[in-house]
Amino acid sequence: MAEAKIAVLFVCLGNICRSPMAEGLARMRFDQAGIAAEIDSAGIGNWHEGEPADRRAVNAGWKVLVDLSALRARQIQSADFERFDYIVAMDDDNIAALEGMAGSQCSAKISRLLDFTDLDDRQITDPYYGGHDGFDSVMALLDIGITGLLRHIREKH
Ligand code: 4NP
Repeated sequence: MAEAKIAVLFVCLGNICRSPMAEGLARMRFDQAGIAAEIDSAGIGNWHEGEPADRRAVNAGWKVLVDLSALRARQIQSADFERFDYIVAMDDDNIAALEGMAGSQCSAKISRLLDFTDLDDRQITDPYYGGHDGFDSVMALLDIGITGLLRHIREKH
């Protein structure tokens, strides 16, 4: 029987900025690392359900050769806590919301992306109300976090 793929869900508040950027970048980095994984993203809220990623996020993607144009926002569902091995959030507000939704068995799956790094500041804050620079900085932090997540997965699986 084929080994089950690792499943990773990136979560932010709206699923139009940080988590779709993480999804697109992680797909590329996991491919490059030769690690087969199911990768998806979702939002805590449903305000942007069905919408494409923010145009500034899509632009930041193009700069690192990641195409985010096909991604559409969705809200996290209770089934996601069963389906995914890693539920990877961007900041402490996301964590608080996720902990409130998850059953006790699933809370071990929840972490911040930057918990897979040695960085002192583990928050990837919302770039929504800022300019383009904010999105480029988020992309750089996501890349550091995804590198750490890949290292963790290689060691653990
Ligand atoms: P995200 O950014 O959580 O990185 O997708 C946000 C986008 C939109 C909103 C909040 C955060 N909003 O409130 O509409």
